[in-house]
Amino acid sequence: MSACAKSAARMKSRWRSMNLSWNRKHLLDIESLSAEEILIVLDTARAFRAVGERAIKKVPALRGKTVVNLFVEPSTRTRISFELAEQRLTADIINFTAEASSLKKGETLKDTARNLEALNADIIVIRHSASGAPHFLSRFLRARIINAGDGAHEHPTQALLDVFTIREKKPAIAGLHVTILGDILYSRVARSNIWALTKLGAHVTLCGPPTLVPKVFEQMGCRVTYNVDEAIAQADIINLLRIQHERQRKTMFPSLGEYTSLFGLTRERLKRTKPGALIMHPGPINRGVEIDSEIADCDRSLILDQVTNGLAVRMAVLFLINGGKGPQEVEA
Ligand code: CP
Repeated sequence: MSACAKSAARMKSRWRSMNLSWNRKHLLDIESLSAEEILIVLDTARAFRAVGERAIKKVPALRGKTVVNLFVEPSTRTRISFELAEQRLTADIINFTAEASSLKKGETLKDTARNLEALNADIIVIRHSASGAPHFLSRFLRARIINAGDGAHEHPTQALLDVFTIREKKPAIAGLHVTILGDILYSRVARSNIWALTKLGAHVTLCGPPTLVPKVFEQMGCRVTYNVDEAIAQADIINLLRIQHERQRKTMFPSLGEYTSLFGLTRERLKRTKPGALIMHPGPINRGVEIDSEIADCDRSLILDQVTNGLAVRMAVLFLINGGKGPQEVEA
């Protein structure tokens, strides 16, 4: 038995003795989850990662279930890892491509979703540019809904895979100093990460241009600073965000060059971080803008670990949303 499988077995035995289980039909956001629910997802993901180390990586948890990947906004990482997670769980999969659909002929999201349900979709994984689109579907569909990113609101599975990745590398989330640097205002990743990290007891600092990091974010329990050197000096984790031009309605700073010189993680700035500080980024990265290209590929970068962990986390979310109670139920 591998070390990962042994640790998953110990963790499953612990959950069996606890009276905690997942009881939600949808995963719409992190804001409404408790710390215990976040831990159920993380430990279930750890159990699925152990499954991923076996010769046969497939389990029948979603056999006979139909999952629709309803991506109405571009995606590489989230879409592909959801699809692979569904394959590993033996689901029947429908990949809906907005560009090739009747949305282009004026059909509404509501009618599109009701047609998918008429084909007996059990789970709908939705990405949409409108904040609240997953919540909207959850109000009238029988299907279970997973939010794969809605506008600038939330990206819950990204935050879950981010905290999963941090938990792998650091002894505890509680007490950790996490700096999120970049375009916070338009970032669903930032909002979901803030909720997840603060619920688990981390100290979160936000930094970036004042136009992209309004002080109102302090109401979410984090600290806001515009001094990048100070923001990164104490950080155990630096999570970089790209500038989300697709959501900005006006110019938020003079130029990309100025952004990089004032807020980019350059090699010079990296020297001023703690030696054990780790670098994260949800992707897609803009090399040479928010992150120096060499830093993206250096051994302190967790960027590809995040992508790898996305598979186990999305398997866990699909399993729980389909009625799984927690890691104790993941097939040995
Ligand atoms: N991190 C993330 O959501 O990437 P994609 O847009 O490629 O899915």
